[in-house]
Amino acid sequence: MQFLLSRSRRLRAATGAMMAVAAAAASSTVSGAPDDKPIAAVAEAVPDASIAKLKAEYRRPGSIPFPKENPYTATKASLGKKLYFDTRLSAANVLSCASCHSPAYAWGDGQPRGVGHGMKQLARRSPSIVNAAFGQIFMWDGRAASLEEQALGPIKTDVEMNLPVEQLIERLKAIPEYSPLFQSAFAGGGISPDNIAKAIATYERTVVSGRAPFDAWIEGDEKAISADAKRGFALFNTKAACTQCHSGWNFTDDSFHDIGLPDADIGRGKFLPGVVKMQHAFKTPGLREISRRAPYMHDGSVPTLEAVMDHYRDGGIDRPSRSAQMKPIALSKQEQADVIAFMRTLTSEMDPTTVPSLPR
Ligand code: HEC
Ligand code: HEC
Repeated sequence: MQFLLSRSRRLRAATGAMMAVAAAAASSTVSGAPDDKPIAAVAEAVPDASIAKLKAEYRRPGSIPFPKENPYTATKASLGKKLYFDTRLSAANVLSCASCHSPAYAWGDGQPRGVGHGMKQLARRSPSIVNAAFGQIFMWDGRAASLEEQALGPIKTDVEMNLPVEQLIERLKAIPEYSPLFQSAFAGGGISPDNIAKAIATYERTVVSGRAPFDAWIEGDEKAISADAKRGFALFNTKAACTQCHSGWNFTDDSFHDIGLPDADIGRGKFLPGVVKMQHAFKTPGLREISRRAPYMHDGSVPTLEAVMDHYRDGGIDRPSRSAQMKPIALSKQEQADVIAFMRTLTSEMDPTTVPSLPR
């Protein structure tokens, strides 16, 4: 089932490395679940060998994965980019995908919650599409299985772009320069819902965060990040236990957790009414480019990284659905600042995005 850890192998690997750190520092043998271990007590001295092992967990992948059913081609990505930036894909000709997932806001919109058709405020925050190519499941509540499946959703949804698919097809057919672009991207195929989704998804997969100071450090440049950030990285992996959910190079397990935020939205629980731990559970966001995309969380309710750290220190609302990994953590002000310093090293200079010329 999809709510189970779709990357459980990687998560286990990450947890294993974290446990190795805790064990080495405490020089005790490791047994039982991570929750049983007094991680808080052993975070001070993280040995270099364990740090080296941890670094290996976070190495950037060498290539972008594209699915067999929709392989990369430059012409398809280029068509997808035009569609992504084209406001004619919305009923009122004012919204494009880029309105809510904009390069200017690290591919989110910088607002607590999205604003759609007729300036209606949406129920949730617009997530960044950065590194979506590496995602296993999409939307805060996981209701889309692929980028292809997701792409037409916002176009037809009344509160978003509000353009029914038949009208979308009519509109694109009425723009003479689109047809030849579809024909070359899809070997003679025309303007169809499927091809629109495939082109947009292909473009989205090319939006990948650049090499950040953290990556330079991982690859051996000791001067690339500050001493604070290095301490923060150790804390992130040990005492603060953030890697239980934010694991791997993109810092997500692509799974769903209730971290104890107070709003009424039950998230993944809507699809899994019988599963206690899925009530109020939302998808773990990746942390790449995180300092550029405040405010945070599915409801945009947490304005700064400082406030995020206060939330994790306090552990959120204690309720049956709250993740077993969430509990108050005795983090000092300095330790919180160190974790933030580390998170800031995940921000890259992404290549500037030029707005494409649109077909006429
Ligand atoms: C009016 C603002 C708005 C517009 C326009 C919009 N989106 Fe979104 N998008 C959102 C919101 C809000 C969510 C989260 C909704 C949820 O999870 O319930 C989202 C979620 C997504 C996700 C899931 C990301 C993830 O990590 O799970 C993708 C991918 C995405 N949108 C792509 C697109 C594409 C492609 C378009 C254009 C066809 C588009 N969006 C148009 C607001 C918008
Ligand atoms: C139990 C799993 C879990 C643990 C442990 C955890 N997180 Fe999270 N994190 C999540 C989930 C799930 C969300 C999204 C929650 C929501 O919006 O309802 C999130 C959201 C965030 C966000 C906001 C991201 C965004 O795009 O809005 C940041 C920053 C963050 N976490 C950092 C951390 C740090 C730092 C730690 C360690 C102190 C940590 N997390 C521990 C699961 C976890």
